[in-house]
Amino acid sequence: MQYALPPGDRVGLPRTLYLMLTQPPIDTLALALTTRERFGRVSFTRFGPVEFYQISDPDLMNDVLVKQADQFHKAKLFRQALAPFLGNGLLLSEGDFWKRQRKLSQPAFHYRRIETYAETMVAYTRQMLTRWRGGQDIYIDREMMKLTLQIVARTLFDADVSGDADHVGALMNEILDASNARITAVFTPPEWVPTRQRMRVRRAIVELDAILERIIAERRQSNEDRGDLLSMLLAALDDDGTGMTDRQLRDELMTIFLAGHETTAMALAWTWYLLSQNPDATAKLRAEVDLVLEGRPATVADLARLPYTEQVVKEALRLYPPAPGVSREPVQDVQVGGYTIPKGALMLLSMYAMHHDPDLFPEPEAFKPERFAPENEAHLVRHSYLPFGGGPRICIGNTFALMEARLILATMIQQVDLALLPGQQIIPQQMVTVRPKHGIHMRIALRKAVPAADPVMV
Ligand code: HEM
Repeated sequence: MQYALPPGDRVGLPRTLYLMLTQPPIDTLALALTTRERFGRVSFTRFGPVEFYQISDPDLMNDVLVKQADQFHKAKLFRQALAPFLGNGLLLSEGDFWKRQRKLSQPAFHYRRIETYAETMVAYTRQMLTRWRGGQDIYIDREMMKLTLQIVARTLFDADVSGDADHVGALMNEILDASNARITAVFTPPEWVPTRQRMRVRRAIVELDAILERIIAERRQSNEDRGDLLSMLLAALDDDGTGMTDRQLRDELMTIFLAGHETTAMALAWTWYLLSQNPDATAKLRAEVDLVLEGRPATVADLARLPYTEQVVKEALRLYPPAPGVSREPVQDVQVGGYTIPKGALMLLSMYAMHHDPDLFPEPEAFKPERFAPENEAHLVRHSYLPFGGGPRICIGNTFALMEARLILATMIQQVDLALLPGQQIIPQQMVTVRPKHGIHMRIALRKAVPAADPVMV
C-alpha cells in the first residue's frame, strides 16, 4: 500500500553513485543536521536503494521509544552489522529472550552495586596518570579507550586486561570499523563474499572469543561468586533450572565489553576537547574539584558535591552524544507523527540532530554546562535530551557511565592540564559511536607531582 511520505531528500541512483565515488564515506552526522534543517523533525530520505525516516522531535522520540515501544524492533541494518560480533546479547536481542536477559543483568547495574566500582574507576585513572609526563603528547581518545576498557573488564568480569588493553582495543576497532562500513554502505556484497575486511574481522572475532572463553572457563571452574555481572549471569537460572550456555554468556560479555567502554571513552575525549576550547569552564571545574576534594582521591560520596562536574559531562554528551542515534523498524504498520510508517521501514531517531536543534537548545553549538544547572535543566523541553535513549531499551549502563565519567574527569583535572596541539582539524565522525576522525592530539602539563597510584587490587 502507498502511504503519504514526510518531506525529504530523494537522491536518485546515479547521483548516489556519484556521491559514493567522490565523497566517501558519507558524513552521516552532517546529513542528519541538514536533513532536519531542510525538512523538519520528521523526514523521509531516499538515498539510492536506501530509504529511511529520520525523527528528531522530542515528543515523537518519546512516542517511539516509550509509548509505542512494543511496536518496534531494532533495525535490521543495525542488527546485521553487529550480530556477527555481538550475537544475541542485550543490545540486539528482542522479545521474551531480551526481557529475561535484561532482568538478569539489571541487578549488576543498580546504583548500590555500581557504587562499589567507584574505587576501581579512580584507581585505574590514577594509575594512568602516574605514567603521564609533563610535556608529553597523547591522543586523548586512545588514552580514554584504554582506561575505560580496563575499568569495564575489571568491574564487570573482574578481569585485569591491563597487559592486553592495547591488543583488545585494536581487535575491537577492527570489528567496529567493519560494522560501521556496513551500516553506512549503500551497497554491501553478499555475506558469502570473503572480502579482505571480512577475513580480518573474522580473525579478530576468533581472538576476542578466545579471551572471553578463557574468562568464562576460569570463572566456571572456580565457581566463585565475586558479585560482578559475570557471577550474576552465571548464577542466573531459568524456570526449568538451567543456566545460560557459554554462547549466551559470551554474547552478553561481548556486548557489555563493547557498549561499556567506547561510549564513555568518547564522552570523556570530547569533554577534554571542549574544555581545551573553553578556559572559563575549565577554571570553574577545577575550582570546584579542588575545593571539594582538597587534593585527595575522589569517592562516590563526593559526587553530590560536584554539580558543575556533572553539568560539564552532560553538556559534552549533548554536543557529542557518543551514540548519535538509535535505529528502529516497525513490527507492523504504525502511526508516528501523523504518518503511517510501514512494517520493516528503517527509522533513525537522531539524538544528534535533536541536541543541535536551536529551538530546543539556543546557541546549540556553544558549550554551556550551565544549561544543566538544576534551575535551567527543569526548563528543558521534555524528552529533548536523550544521550542514553529512552523507554524499556534505555541504556542499562547509564548510571555506571555518568558515575565513571565524573570520577575520571575529577581525578584527571586534579592533576593535569591538557592543551590541544595546534594545526589539527577536529572532526566528529559517526562510527558506531561519534569519534574524532583524526583523533584529538593533546599536550600534558602536570599541575603538581602526581602521587604514586594506589595499588589496584588484582
Ligand atoms: C556515555 C556512555 C554511554 C552512552 C552515551 C550510551 C548510550 C546508549 C544508548 C543510546 C542505548 C540505547 C540503544 C537503543 O535504544 O537502540 C544504549 C544501550 C545499551 N547500553 Fe549504553 N551507553 C553508554 C554507556 C554504557 C555502559 C557503560 C554500558 C555497560 C557497562 C552500556 C551498556 C548498554 C547496553 C547493554 C545496552 C542495551 C540495553 C538493552 O537494549 O536492554 N552502555 N546505550
